[in-house]
Order: sequence, then structure tokens, then C-alpha cells
Amino acid sequence: MSSFLWAQDNRVPLFVFGLTTGVALTATVQYLLSSFTPPRQSEAESLLSASNHALTARKQVETATQRLEREFTISTSMLHNMVKAFIRDMERGLKRDNAVMKMIPSYVVRRPSGDEDGTYLALDLGGSNFRVCEVTLKGKGQVRTRQKKFVVSEELKTGTAVALFDFFADCVGQTMDEYHLDKNASLKMGFTFSFPVDQHALNKGTLFYWTKGFTASGVVGVDAVKLLQDAFKRKKLRINVTALVNDTVGTLISHAYVDTATYMGVILGTGTNAAYVERIESIPKWTGPKPESGEMVINMEWGAWGQDGIILPTTEYDAAVDRASPNPKKQSYEKMISGLYLGEITRYVLIDLISTGQLFAGRRCQALEAEHSFDTANMSRIERDHSMELTDTKSIFEDLYAVRQTTLSDRRLIKRVCELVGTRAARLAAIGVASVVTKTNKLAGCTVAVDGSVFEHYPHFANRMRDALRELLGINADGIVLAQARDGSGQGAALIAALADVGEEDI
Ligand code: BGC
Repeated sequence: MSSFLWAQDNRVPLFVFGLTTGVALTATVQYLLSSFTPPRQSEAESLLSASNHALTARKQVETATQRLEREFTISTSMLHNMVKAFIRDMERGLKRDNAVMKMIPSYVVRRPSGDEDGTYLALDLGGSNFRVCEVTLKGKGQVRTRQKKFVVSEELKTGTAVALFDFFADCVGQTMDEYHLDKNASLKMGFTFSFPVDQHALNKGTLFYWTKGFTASGVVGVDAVKLLQDAFKRKKLRINVTALVNDTVGTLISHAYVDTATYMGVILGTGTNAAYVERIESIPKWTGPKPESGEMVINMEWGAWGQDGIILPTTEYDAAVDRASPNPKKQSYEKMISGLYLGEITRYVLIDLISTGQLFAGRRCQALEAEHSFDTANMSRIERDHSMELTDTKSIFEDLYAVRQTTLSDRRLIKRVCELVGTRAARLAAIGVASVVTKTNKLAGCTVAVDGSVFEHYPHFANRMRDALRELLGINADGIVLAQARDGSGQGAALIAALADVGEEDI
């Protein structure tokens, strides 16, 4: 660039001189110019051009940041409007079966007293991880859990029902061997199956549709307990599956075992969803017997909220994530909040910023181009990077993503993108919590048990949620305790199996 400028600057005066005073003079001037002037001008020019360049880059970053801030920020008034719409959609789901938010009666009609006891098995399929647990309830809110974790491969997630459920049965058999459990004892099991299930009884329910990247054939529309029970039969395991439970319901129930003020269970992990305790008369679509407790836990399946395209402030990046997902136009709220998608939204933003030259000076980053190549865990690292030079962010992009060189302004822009995407997710999650506590009149105070990697590990997520709750509920927000729950879903399934043992007549 600078040499091009030099050529231009030299050429004009030389041309004028050549015409007026002749070749000799021109040659002399040319000599003088070439021997003295260029080096000094070159320094000045390159300094000027470098500073121009820096200025332009800063301007570009500013423009990009402002645009993204506009697109990703959810203002207080938007929060209020969305809570109104959310409550309206909850009510629709409680009235009829085919609403956007399914609001599924879980058949769990009691919260534990803390006195339940006995040994139960639990099987917990949440997303990529699958756990087999042995849960010993000792009464007085005390529990002992031993568990083994397994990874569900992509092949199994996208294969067949038989392969998937045989794998579960094998894992159970292996765990029972390891824990020396009697395979003839006919143990009772709670099955946490964290997908939208049309529940027909406490231990019966058919999958509406898969979420979180699962597509295994032969499961949608089929009773998940039957699939599991058949696999146990094939593997000669005498286990009786007495409860089919969503992870949100499990989290709520296991937390209620230790904190009776718990009215809501929320998962903010690979996927997102919530369950809460509803009065039976507020569930017009419930036609079963009225439980003694007068209440029923509802599995909201809130991840589907907004998939009718009306209310969520989606960006072009959300649309791209949705289009490329195995379930387009489904789970819109989940796709803006949960761990499976936050990294992907960010990746689309970064790719766009590269293509407009606002990031990495427009140099392609091939490692970022494959779908799901930017994990949400990277966002956590970047948001946790408080160093002056953003050195960890530098090492993520230069070491993991092979970007030849990043500038500080590149890294600042990336960090801002992560903040925007992460903050929006937390504020959206707060909408769901605020809606439930408002609708159920729990503003005087209650405990919300929250589990999942995003809530637990994503920096500032919980605080950002609390900030949004304060904007929405004012001083009442202080009574809403967002309690970190861990691994509650398996334990909750065992507890629900125990509750079923005590009061089958209720269900
Ligand atoms: C599923 C829910 C589940 C949530 C959290 C969603 O994708 O539809 O059933 O509770 O993920 O695991």
C-alpha cells in the first residue's frame, strides 16, 4: 500500500517538471528525490497509513459491535412483554394438547416428605451422557448415590431404537455387576428420559419428537418404558421400571427431598426445560382422578416456546442455526438458551464478521467453518478471560483454531460477541422462571432448583438471570432462590419410583 502511494506522489511532480524545464533538470530532481526524500516520506507515510488502518479497524469493530448489541439485547420492556406472552402460552398448554408449550401432566402428584427409604435403580438419559445410578434413600432427607457414567455415541443417537436401548441395558448389567447387585432381586427402577414425552401413566409415555441432536428411528410415538423393558428382557435383567420421568421433574423432586420450599426444577444444560407444581384445577385438560394433594407436577417442555415464530427476537444467526439443525422450526427457545446451541450461534456470528472483514482482517478460519466446531465451553473460557491482552482467547483462536495472528481488537470483539449471546440466553431463561412464579403466585418466595452445565459452568449466567429477574419482579425477585442442583435427575427418578411404591392409589 505505501509503495503504491509513493509511486503516485513521485509521478505527478516529475511529469510537471519534465514538461516545463527539460530532461536534465528532471533527472537532477529525480536523483535528489530518490536519494533523500523517499525514505523520510516512507516512514511518515507508513506511520500514517498504519494509524489510518488502525482507525478504520477500530471503526469497523465499533460498527459491528453496535449492530450486534442492537440485535442481541433484550431490554426490560421486551422482558415484560415476553413474560406476558409466556404466561398466555402456559395457559394454552394447560388447556389443550396441541399447544406450542406442551405442559405435560407428569402423574407425579406428591412431593417427597423426606421420610422415603429403600434402594432403587435409576437410569438417566439427558443428552450425550447416560448414567446408571443406585440410589439408597435413608429417610430424613438423606440419600446415598453410586453412579456410573457412559457416553452415548453419535452412532447410537442416530441409529435404531433396539441398538440404543440394548446399549442402555448393557450399561445397567455392567453397573450391577460392578456394584455386586443381585440380578434376581427384581429391583425397581426410575427412568429419566429427558425428551418431550406424552405421559399416559407414571410409568408409560410415548416420545412426541426427539430433541438435542437425537434422531434414532423407532422411538417417536412408542412407549419408552416398553422399549427399555424389552431390552432388559433381551439381556435377561429382572428390573421393573416403575416411573418414567423428565429430568426437570426429577430435579424438582430430588431437591424437594432436602428443601420443601422447592416448587420448580429447571435444566439449563445441553437442552433446556422446566417443571413446576400446578394446582389441579388450573389444568383444564386433566381428565384423570383428582389427586389427594390437589396438585400435579407439570413438565412444561418450555424449549418449544416461540416455535410458532411470533414472539422471540431471533436474529439471522438463530435462523441459520435452526435451518442446519435436525429439527428445524422446533425448540426455538431452547435454541437461543442451551449449551448445544450457544457456541453454534456464536460461530455463525464470527463467520459473518470474518466475511465482512471486521474480524481477523477478513482472513478465513477454516477450523471454524464446520458445523458445531465452536463449543459453548470455549465461550465460557473467553468470558472468564479477564487478562489485559485476552491471552486465553488468543490461545483458543491461535492454537485451537489455527488463526495465524489475532489482534487485541479481534479478541475484544469475540469476547463481546460471547457476552451478548450468553447474556441474551440468561435473560431469556429468566423469562421462564419469572412467568412460572408469577402465574403460580409464588412471588412471596420459593426455591427453584436449577441443574445443567450452562447454569453451573457458564460464567455470570446465574447473576445475569438474577439481574433480569430483578428487572421483572422488582423486590420480589429476592425471594426467588435459584439453587444449584447437581445430578438430581437420576436421584429424583428413584424418589419418584419410591413415591409410587407408597401411594399407587393416588396415581
Ligand atoms: C427436552 C426436555 C428436557 C430438556 C433438558 C429438551 O431438549 O425436550 O424434555 O427436559 O431438553 O434436558
